[in-house]
Amino acid sequence: MKTRREFLTVLTPLAFGTAIFADEAKRPTVIEPLSPLGLETLFLTWANDPLRTMRIQWISAALQKPNPIDLFYQKKNESTWIKISSSSHPFGSIEHWVNRVDLSSLTPGTDYRFRVANQPEVFQFKTAPEKLEQPLCFAEGGDIGTDPLTVIPLHQMAASWEPLFGLVVGDLSYSNGLDVYTELRFYKLWSAQMRGSGNRLIPMVAGIGNHEVQGGYQKTRAEAPFFYALFEGLFKGSGAYGTLDFGTYLSIILLDSRHTCEVELQTEWLRATLAKRAQVTHRFVAYHVPAYPSVRKFDEPISVAIRKQWVPILETAGIKIVFEHHDHAFKRSKKLINGQESPVGVTYVGDGAWGRPARPIRAQDASDGLLKRESSMNVWKVTLTDSNIDLLASNEKGEELDHFVVSRGSILR
Ligand SMILES: [Fe+2]
Ligand SMILES: [Fe+2]
Repeated sequence: MKTRREFLTVLTPLAFGTAIFADEAKRPTVIEPLSPLGLETLFLTWANDPLRTMRIQWISAALQKPNPIDLFYQKKNESTWIKISSSSHPFGSIEHWVNRVDLSSLTPGTDYRFRVANQPEVFQFKTAPEKLEQPLCFAEGGDIGTDPLTVIPLHQMAASWEPLFGLVVGDLSYSNGLDVYTELRFYKLWSAQMRGSGNRLIPMVAGIGNHEVQGGYQKTRAEAPFFYALFEGLFKGSGAYGTLDFGTYLSIILLDSRHTCEVELQTEWLRATLAKRAQVTHRFVAYHVPAYPSVRKFDEPISVAIRKQWVPILETAGIKIVFEHHDHAFKRSKKLINGQESPVGVTYVGDGAWGRPARPIRAQDASDGLLKRESSMNVWKVTLTDSNIDLLASNEKGEELDHFVVSRGSILR
């Protein structure tokens, strides 16, 4: 008698490949074999200075640790290729491996090309600029999943903005830290769809959510094996909290909403981290479970803990925009200080659904802090200039859900 896994192997992707499942977390495992090198999963991220480094990663399948693979890179306008070799480490499974190349000493604001030995495809990437002299765009969201019917339109819309990077904060593949094949489908979709002009790969900056973790909440790093195998570079502490600093013009502060670290254990770190960056032009804080939810109840314990532990720090530090997710809907809060509208308050935008179907929003409640809410899939386009943050939310059809501009002082429109 066949095991469940063997049975599904026989069925292969055609059996399940394009069906929409109401709850993707319960979706049957779809085993799609990787090519020998696994380059269809190749994507970029940052573990260090986005002005001068780039991390290239892909996943391959093998029973034994793969041999190093040569990769060649150059500035777009130069003719000499520089050779560098990959390293590898386990990808949360005994038969899958992360292949990694870390490029360093790059030039800020520069287009590069690279190719993998003996492979025809030439990829491009761009380093972050030294200064914010031109508008800089990034895409923001969470709760993506692996259903091509819903993910591809949003990926294509986000890629068409030519963002420098995509910030995805939790519930990436919905593998629950268990299903490697769901992980592979997720990275294949990102790799194929999140490309700008000239075959430029758009890097992913990732935060953690419950569906990265075996059990979702109050677990260890070891129980989110795929996430940490790919993204451990930003997270030096006990959980998935860390910062990515773009010179002195942009800092992204990622927090772990009780998936692999307690909310309370990050409070002092958050206070010190924001204080250290008081002079940075734009500081964004992002985490998965919302303080001001649009779908779930206002008094869910994690939301309560975040409002108690982190929100006062965000308010004191003068943070303008916070990215929240997890609820699978669109929302924008009022500008809030201590739950009340204030001209100098913090705006919370979200709420996930960059590929996962939108949920019905909770009934309107005048005291829940929200200004706008809608049961709609969404990705945010964030455009920074030296003085302003322009935020545009769009649905999967490219229709505008919201558009507002925040100056360092106030919301302009
Ligand atoms: Fe989710
Ligand atoms: Fe979630």
